[in-house]
Amino acid sequence: MKSRSKILIIAGSDSSGGAGIQADIKTVTSLGSYAMTAVTAITAQNTTGVKSVFPIHPKEIEKQILFTCKDINPDAIKIGMLHSHEVINSVCKALKKINNKKIVLDPVMVAKGGSILLNISALKSLKKKMIKMAYLITPNIPEAEILAKKRIRNTNDMIDAGKILLRFGAKNILIKGGHKKSKNIEDIFLNEKEIKVFKNKKIKTNNTHGTGCTLSSAIATFLSCGKPLKKSCELGIKYVNQAIRFNQNYGKGHGPINHLNSIVLNKKYL
Ligand SMILES: Nc1ncnc2c1ncn2[C@@H]1O[C@H](COP(=O)(O)OP(=O)(O)OP(=O)(O)O)[C@@H](O)[C@H]1O
Ligand SMILES: [Mg+2]
Repeated sequence: MKSRSKILIIAGSDSSGGAGIQADIKTVTSLGSYAMTAVTAITAQNTTGVKSVFPIHPKEIEKQILFTCKDINPDAIKIGMLHSHEVINSVCKALKKINNKKIVLDPVMVAKGGSILLNISALKSLKKKMIKMAYLITPNIPEAEILAKKRIRNTNDMIDAGKILLRFGAKNILIKGGHKKSKNIEDIFLNEKEIKVFKNKKIKTNNTHGTGCTLSSAIATFLSCGKPLKKSCELGIKYVNQAIRFNQNYGKGHGPINHLNSIVLNKKYL
């Protein structure tokens, strides 16, 4: 099978394999596309938490992006953890040079276990520069609260926070509802023209490590294959939902989801 498209992933490494670049590569691959990477940081973590974050020098990140794209032109770009304003500036500079419009930005700030993954001084640059460059941003509820400076308690609050983010220059927003304590989960898509609520039953499980990274990579993959944005969000949510449902239960904390659920292995390799 030939890869359907090519994606550049700019994100941090998760040594436990459930989130970050590892989750991104698994997602892109299992949806039939080709993954390239620019690593922004190396984390030592497992399902119980993050032990350390080792930043990659901004110049090295810029080099990874530019040298990779000079050779293989990506059809879409997924951006994950950008931990400092120097990194954000470098990534913005590089993105201007490669001029790709299908950019999905997951503004990673807080890990599932509660660890802060974004340097506070980076928040300003993220709001001022990076958000405007993205075609879609995918904050979870705590991230949307920080970005919009607004408490989110219900669906209307999510919509209002989204509207505030549109005023900052975001083109399209998907606020993920995974952190809401309720029977149903709502992911809310909005732009200047429309609001669409994707509703799903909340699956009872502790194993949701990397759902956000997986979702943004899946959306970038569908977009890169030519699907419209809203449809890409719908399909991405479906892919994550199936991956959570599998509940493979690895590790003692927030375990990973199953990225392989879209793949049927050829019999000769079984
Ligand atoms: N328990 C669950 N049941 C069903 N869907 C879920 C569940 N938890 C999260 N999701 C879905 O997973 C996707 C990611 O949402 P979530 O809010 O978990 O992102 P996140 O906090 O950024 O995740 P990450 O841990 O990767 O940072 C959304 O589509 C959300 O609806
Ligand atoms: Mg996240």
